[in-house]
Amino acid sequence: MGNPYLEGAFAPVREERTDDHELSMDGALPPDLEGRLLRVGPNPAVTPTDPDRHHWLAGDGMVHAVDLAGGRAVGYRNRFVRTRALARRIGTPAPRGPHGPVDGPANANVVRHAGVLLALDGSGPPLALGADLTTARVHDFDGALTAPVAPHPKRDPDGGLVLVGSDVFGPPFLRTHLVDADGVLVRTDEIDVPRATLVHDVGLTGRFLVLLDLPVVFDLGLAADGISVPYRWMADAGARVGLVDRRAGTGVRWIAVEPCSVFHVANAFDDGDDVVVDVVRHPSAFDEPPGGRLGAHGHLTRWRLPATGTVSEEQLDDRPVELPRTADAAQGRPYRYAYGVVLDDAPAPTPVALVKYDLERDESSTYAPGPGRVPSEAVFVPAADGRSEDEGWVLTVVQDAARGASDLVVLDATSFSGPPVATVHLPARVPVDLHGTWLPAG
Ligand SMILES: [Fe+2]
Repeated sequence: MGNPYLEGAFAPVREERTDDHELSMDGALPPDLEGRLLRVGPNPAVTPTDPDRHHWLAGDGMVHAVDLAGGRAVGYRNRFVRTRALARRIGTPAPRGPHGPVDGPANANVVRHAGVLLALDGSGPPLALGADLTTARVHDFDGALTAPVAPHPKRDPDGGLVLVGSDVFGPPFLRTHLVDADGVLVRTDEIDVPRATLVHDVGLTGRFLVLLDLPVVFDLGLAADGISVPYRWMADAGARVGLVDRRAGTGVRWIAVEPCSVFHVANAFDDGDDVVVDVVRHPSAFDEPPGGRLGAHGHLTRWRLPATGTVSEEQLDDRPVELPRTADAAQGRPYRYAYGVVLDDAPAPTPVALVKYDLERDESSTYAPGPGRVPSEAVFVPAADGRSEDEGWVLTVVQDAARGASDLVVLDATSFSGPPVATVHLPARVPVDLHGTWLPAG
């Protein structure tokens, strides 16, 4: 049997296209949707030399962009992220700028801050992408960033960006960074943790930065053995959540949790003296053979961290989900709605539907695109004059096996299970990916 991450809905695309013409669609695009949807995911540029050991998360990053204007879909393009590793493999120009000891594939997330579009993956510095996506430059904030950063920075209320990063090469294994609204890295704090663990995301409430130190541990032996994502499950390493008081800036209060793995924090907020952290909790991860499947066993879970005492943990849904999102405006504060992808576990964890959680009413609704159609992460775009948290649209890129291409599907978030308001037919297939972002025009 082949590697499921190289086949079917995960099979990479190799052609880079620029389709600067109107794309066909069904339905009507809301006039508020003026801008660009970006998606990014792993997409190996060449067949791995040992396909059986290829890990999905190690694939070269590919960015896809769909441009919307005036109620029309006016163009599509896709480009490999021009990393050093890609340059070596296929002879494209290498990214300019300084380098750390390791550059990652920049395949996990894209974020725009202070006018700079950053591609991130967690094992290296961000890469700044050009507007046409054909260039990439290592973005180390004028030399201020000297360690890798995780792919999910969080926006703070002042318009800054909070980043966290795990450095596998030695202590301090964990650092946090604050980039101000102008894009200047103004502060780095070193966090004392005993080992390098997989750090993919961070939480941010009004009062606290929420750090995760969970027992998925970097293993130098696996790295030396050529394992491309060299982490292993080590339950006896313990599991804890750290709260950093953002005003004090230093000192971490660590709170033990049951051993687990978390890639994604859906949201975090202060609730009186408590801190609530909603995550997709996996009972374990990286306990399969190196290069194996990730497993569809994550559940939306709420941690309540009291000012004193132990954490309470509540699983909010029994369906396996991942890639949680909320409205950007709902981040860091009490909120009502979260979105996620529901996963099927065969032959590899594959999205089959989107779910919208109403956490206030303990209800959910789903959007299932149908057999042979694989949705992506939900990206929420607020309506221009929206008053409620869910007034707006959810954008998802749905891979259609029969057509051999993908559609951009636009859902009315307030009528989530209803028919899409628009389905834009893209000229190419977008393989199962990770994250995306909406860049409003202007
Ligand atoms: Fe992620």
